[in-house]
Amino acid sequence: MFLGLQPPVGERGFSPVSEVNNQGFSPGILEQDNGLATNSENLLTVIDVGSAKTCVLVGETIDGSLRYRGHGISESRGSRKGAIVDLEKASSSIHRAVEEAEKIAGATIDHAVVTMGGPLVRGLNSRGGLNLGSRPREITREDVRQASERARSVVLPADREMMHLLPQEYIVDQQSSIRDPLGMIGMKLEVSVHIVTAGKSSSQNVVTAANRAGIQVDDTIFEGLASAEGTLKSDERELGICLLDIGAGSTDLIVYFEGAVAHTGVVPIGGDHFTNDVAVGLRTPLIEAEKIKRLFGNAVVTNVPESNEIEVPAVGERPSRLMPQRLLSEILEPRARELFEYVRDNLRQGGVLEALGAGSVLTGGGARLAGLMPIAESVLRSPSRIGRPATIAKMPMELSDPEFATAVGSLMYANRSRVARSGPGQTGFAAKLKAIFQSA
Ligand SMILES: Nc1ncnc2c1ncn2[C@@H]1O[C@H](COP(=O)(O)OP(=O)(O)OP(=O)(O)O)[C@@H](O)[C@H]1O
Ligand SMILES: [Mg+2]
Repeated sequence: MFLGLQPPVGERGFSPVSEVNNQGFSPGILEQDNGLATNSENLLTVIDVGSAKTCVLVGETIDGSLRYRGHGISESRGSRKGAIVDLEKASSSIHRAVEEAEKIAGATIDHAVVTMGGPLVRGLNSRGGLNLGSRPREITREDVRQASERARSVVLPADREMMHLLPQEYIVDQQSSIRDPLGMIGMKLEVSVHIVTAGKSSSQNVVTAANRAGIQVDDTIFEGLASAEGTLKSDERELGICLLDIGAGSTDLIVYFEGAVAHTGVVPIGGDHFTNDVAVGLRTPLIEAEKIKRLFGNAVVTNVPESNEIEVPAVGERPSRLMPQRLLSEILEPRARELFEYVRDNLRQGGVLEALGAGSVLTGGGARLAGLMPIAESVLRSPSRIGRPATIAKMPMELSDPEFATAVGSLMYANRSRVARSGPGQTGFAAKLKAIFQSA
């Protein structure tokens, strides 16, 4: 995780983790003023500010291994399509979820890692390198840092800032596909990286909303990257996989190939678009459409027996009606196909459509729609599975549903970054790069 282009502490009201301050993740919990117990050094907190729900998750690290301590969930207000549209409402959603998590964790939360996703996030590939001299010599940590600095010195538009710098491979002289060049001998070191950027004002709004809820933001993490951390297996990342986090307002996607991030993107369709279609198509209020979608929805028309009927509440005072369940699927199937066609186009444009040896993984609340997987398989022409977050010790069952992949994954990611930084000689930038490759 890397926030290299952000200003130092104070300027934006938060302290990003970067080599500028080189602080590592700030301990999650410090205050003792409300009488809650603290074990501050070991606590980590993440906040997933989604368009549908805000989830705060607190973990405890003991000897590098992660254990659940508490969580809180509130309905998201003031966020739409990954962006904050009402600061006051967004910060009170964060506040409510934080309070609930504090009660369960028995500790005060005043620092956290916060997720960002939706259309405000973009990814691009870049390459940089440096000559090591006229004779071959050993590659040092400083060389790796400098090569990475050059790779990230692409000119970003003034309204964007860097969120992650993810190494893909190092090239020493002519030899490519190197994961860790430290100690190797060569005359030229190059690195190719994937850079994830966020819109400056939108990311600042998320940080401000957290600040107003009394939370200092230690770092930000791309939601797709967090969900991948929570759901993907290392052999899938090697073979080539596309992780799709189908949220409420949009779908974040991230592609791994040969163990590294090859592509990230966002498509502007999420679960709420399905709900809207149902509300319009069945002429029922949104809240009823959401219930009907969850209870009776199936994205494959032919999966639903022709004779099945469902009761559909009407708008206004009119009585409920009985309708064929297939009618519901006739609304959902074209939307599901459209979603994956958008994904397919995005992958094709990114040059990675043919790289999905392990197919796709569907996660996020939207992935719970029955029948979505076969539609993904038919449009993307590769196997698909549902991605549930990995289990953290002592984690309650309810957090294993796909909509918690981002929160659980960001806690795992934050923990891994902390562990990498606390290892011998592992500080700052080099440790972050190493941490990222170790995940592969
Ligand atoms: N059982 C279900 N069947 C179908 N859709 C579901 C089901 N459960 C949740 N959803 C959909 O999942 C979406 C919410 O997913 P999630 O909680 O992952 O979103 P979010 O993280 O808050 O949003 P975003 O990531 O877009 O900011 C909603 O559109 C909801 O309708
Ligand atoms: Mg989400």
